[in-house]
Amino acid sequence: MAGTHLTFLVFLSWLTVCIMTTNAYKTNSNVVDVKVMCMEREKQALLKLKDDLVDKNDQLSSWGTSDDCCNWTGVRCNNRTGHVYALQLNQQKLQLNDSTLEKNYSMQFKWDISSPLLELKHLAYLTMSMVRATSIPQFIGSLKHLMHLEMSDCDLSGTIPHQLGNLTRLVFLDLSNNNFHKVESLSWLSRLPALKHLDLSSTDLSGTTDWFQAINSLPYLHNLYLSDCGLSLVISPPLFHSNYSPASLADIDLSQNSLTSSILPWLFDFNNSLVHLKLCYNEFLRKNPKSFGAMINLESLDLSENHFEGEIPRALGNLGRLESLDLSWNSLVGEVPDMKNLSFISTLDLSENKLNGSWIENIQLLSHLEYLDISSNFMNGTISEISLLNLTKLTYLDISSNAFVFNLSLNWTPPFQLETLIMRSCKLGPSFPQWLRTQRRISHLDISSNFMNGTISEINLLNLIKLRYLDISSNILQVGA
Ligand SMILES: *[C@@H]1O[C@H](CO)[C@@H](O)[C@H](O)[C@H]1NC(C)=O
Ligand SMILES: *[C@@H]1O[C@H](CO)[C@@H](O)[C@H](O)[C@H]1NC(C)=O
Ligand SMILES: *[C@@H]1O[C@H](CO)[C@@H](O)[C@H](O)[C@H]1NC(C)=O
Ligand SMILES: *[C@@H]1O[C@H](CO)[C@@H](O)[C@H](O)[C@H]1NC(C)=O
Ligand SMILES: *[C@@H]1O[C@H](CO)[C@@H](O)[C@H](O)[C@H]1NC(C)=O
Ligand SMILES: *[C@@H]1O[C@H](CO)[C@@H](O)[C@H](O)[C@H]1NC(C)=O
Ligand SMILES: *[C@@H]1O[C@H](CO)[C@@H](O)[C@H](O)[C@H]1NC(C)=O
Ligand SMILES: *[C@@H]1O[C@H](CO)[C@@H](O)[C@H](O)[C@H]1NC(C)=O
Ligand SMILES: *[C@@H]1O[C@H](CO)[C@@H](O)[C@H](O)[C@H]1NC(C)=O
Ligand SMILES: *[C@@H]1O[C@H](CO)[C@@H](O)[C@H](O)[C@H]1NC(C)=O
Ligand SMILES: *[C@@H]1O[C@H](CO)[C@@H](O)[C@H](O)[C@H]1NC(C)=O
Ligand SMILES: *[C@@H]1O[C@H](CO)[C@@H](O)[C@H](O)[C@H]1NC(C)=O
Repeated sequence: MAGTHLTFLVFLSWLTVCIMTTNAYKTNSNVVDVKVMCMEREKQALLKLKDDLVDKNDQLSSWGTSDDCCNWTGVRCNNRTGHVYALQLNQQKLQLNDSTLEKNYSMQFKWDISSPLLELKHLAYLTMSMVRATSIPQFIGSLKHLMHLEMSDCDLSGTIPHQLGNLTRLVFLDLSNNNFHKVESLSWLSRLPALKHLDLSSTDLSGTTDWFQAINSLPYLHNLYLSDCGLSLVISPPLFHSNYSPASLADIDLSQNSLTSSILPWLFDFNNSLVHLKLCYNEFLRKNPKSFGAMINLESLDLSENHFEGEIPRALGNLGRLESLDLSWNSLVGEVPDMKNLSFISTLDLSENKLNGSWIENIQLLSHLEYLDISSNFMNGTISEISLLNLTKLTYLDISSNAFVFNLSLNWTPPFQLETLIMRSCKLGPSFPQWLRTQRRISHLDISSNFMNGTISEINLLNLIKLRYLDISSNILQVGA
């Protein structure tokens, strides 16, 4: 999800710059057809920059081949002034070595991020994500025109220079997934009033006392990603008036921190603007998540891996735009509320709670479901052909460890083609479920512990072409013809 957003924002930023240049162009309509070449100084700077890079896959092979650096890969110039305004160093994704999880950088700086960059004085857009480097140079603060700075997954260490606070036009800042030293202060953030997108995920902010204040000084902040930052808030923050806090935060990821319910009043300030909210792996306690029901524009909500107790609030059933809801690994009890208004929901994970009731019998109303995990609860009720009739899009189903009863005829043909089916401990037996043979795309199948009494030859009749994982343990299967 964050990925799609990122791409969209990148696109937006290009667009913004394009629109700016077009306007500038129109006001100078006398000089229209003059083809503007790139600046010699900037060209030389780019060539020096290339010299400072190890470029394993020759991504910069076009650099130096033609005189006009404006059409080199990853370089964009303002077509009126000829100045380089956008630079994207790497177009390739990181590859991970499967066995060591080591990152394989296709591009890296030989030493530090080099000063030729400074020659590109009109740079507005700089993305060097997944280019390996050592640290962020302090001189970055001199690139005064920067609106977009993306340095995620660069293996950067050292400190985050407070000179970033000099980039007062920044709209987009992504420094996520690096190895910076423990950050002491984020006060420089408050000098970036135009910031809309901030991603510092996987940066150790546990030593900062001002992160919350810094964020609340950014009036236009729209996307905030501080996942895995060691964040905690000891006391309930004072409520901020909209003059001092972001007016319309839409996308928040504060997952994998040590946050408690003391931050909730602040979050509920954004009940009208929030579209995506991710709070998984924190320390939210006791209070049931009632007020989330007031966040009427939510499309995704992830509260998994916390300690929420009590019932799932009925109000969540009103979030008509919700596409993804994850409440797994909490201590929620009682019946699942009526969800028939959640007609767009495609991902629903309620697993590992203490939920009961026969809600499953009404699941046919959720016709957009693609991913359903309700495993390890105390649910009962009958799973019938009628209840599954509408679930044509389902590809992931885990109903393990509940107390469902099945009423599926021998020749039933499901409306879906599953890729993952997990039905551990579901009392499926004694006979082998024939309908499994219709599932041609299945790659992960777990039907262990089901009191099944059949022959291995029946397994052979399954569509095994895509199968990568099979668990049929704890059944009574005989080797037979
Ligand atoms: C200059 O750039 C603008 C916006 O990208 C574009 O619409 C226009 O056609 C360009 N002009 C020339 C002469 O390339
Ligand atoms: C850049 O422009 C030159 C001259 O217009 C052209 O020969 C060359 O193919 C272009 N290179 C790229 C990568 O577009
Ligand atoms: C991954 O790392 C291991 C251990 O360093 C190495 O033996 C292996 O060749 C690497 N895999 C690939 C695909 O290069
Ligand atoms: C690293 O990536 C390059 C090209 O992308 C590839 O040729 C090489 O095998 C990769 N090495 C490892 C260790 O994955
Ligand atoms: C950049 O910011 C630092 C403080 O973070 C300040 O001391 C310095 O004067 C600024 N430089 C410029 C060129 O504005
Ligand atoms: C949303 O928040 C505002 C301000 O905090 C509050 O006045 C309003 O009642 C809330 N809306 C809902 C539906 O709870
Ligand atoms: C569903 O939506 C309708 C109309 O918006 C509303 O009247 C009803 O109370 C909602 N039902 C539930 C269970 O939330
Ligand atoms: C469901 O759980 C709630 C809360 O634990 C309990 O009060 C209720 O009796 C249970 N309902 C059924 C049908 O077991
Ligand atoms: C299937 O879903 C549609 C709306 O999505 C609903 O109107 C219809 O009643 C459902 N069918 C069954 C058998 O429940
Ligand atoms: C579900 O379990 C509860 C409590 O054991 C029981 O009262 C109820 O009749 C069961 N419902 C179904 C549909 O089996
Ligand atoms: C099982 O489902 C069929 C329709 O598919 C229905 O006629 C029958 O009554 C159901 N049996 C039970 C025990 O619910
Ligand atoms: C398994 O099935 C066979 C033949 O259908 C039957 O003779 C046997 O008693 C069954 N075993 C169990 C444990 O149900």
